[in-house]
Amino acid sequence: MPDPDHPLLRSYGRIKSRPIKPRQAALMETLLPTIRPPAGPFDPRALTPGAAEAWLEIGFGGGEHMAAQAAKRPDVLILGAEPFQNGVASALRHIDEAGLTNVRVHDGDVRELLGRMPDASLARAYILFPDPWPKTRHHKRRIVQPDLVAELARLLVPGGRLRFASDVAHYVDWSLEMIRGNPAFRWTADQAADWRVPPADHITTRYEEKRLGDCAPVFLDFVRS
Ligand SMILES: C[S@@+](CC[C@H](N)C(=O)[O-])C[C@H]1O[C@@H](n2cnc3c(N)ncnc32)[C@H](O)[C@@H]1O
Repeated sequence: MPDPDHPLLRSYGRIKSRPIKPRQAALMETLLPTIRPPAGPFDPRALTPGAAEAWLEIGFGGGEHMAAQAAKRPDVLILGAEPFQNGVASALRHIDEAGLTNVRVHDGDVRELLGRMPDASLARAYILFPDPWPKTRHHKRRIVQPDLVAELARLLVPGGRLRFASDVAHYVDWSLEMIRGNPAFRWTADQAADWRVPPADHITTRYEEKRLGDCAPVFLDFVRS
């Protein structure tokens, strides 16, 4: 992955909206090149000296969750991927303002990144409020697909965690089926509160706050066996 014979379907919407503010545009020129992961194969744990573990956030949007998690866990390297340029610019502002040194940003499709990392190199992966692609003919564009789930199973350490959250009921069911369909993952929920109540370590995201979906936010936590 990616397979040159089967180009990936685009899983995101626009990559730019309003003009980026001058300060954020400057950070795109100065900060971003210094925190991009290397172009070839790399081990995310080696991106910062002494990182206890590495986490991945897929589609970090404006970067609020990524930056807040990084601030809470300076011992963890957090790698985020996001093709939406305004989101990247916003994330850079958070990283800069908080003086975070443990965040790395891939300003593009996460699927360009996954195959460059070794097996069992991530301790956590987050997919929070992904683009819903509600029309049936667009479901194939959803980021959660069996190939992506298999790649996350390869990348997560035994005991590693995958969190999916959405407020689109069909996408919740879709992801539950796909992730549970991979024998490497075990859903941790025992009771409804486990998916209805935000996990204690969750940080509300900007998209989550918009409440654009058709159900209350659902949080699915999985453990990599
Ligand atoms: C609905 S937004 C949610 C953003 C953020 N997680 C939040 O909750 O506020 C989904 C994000 O996923 C990003 N995205 C979609 N496909 C992606 C991909 N293949 N790789 C990385 N990010 C992707 C989109 O650009 C978009 O910003």
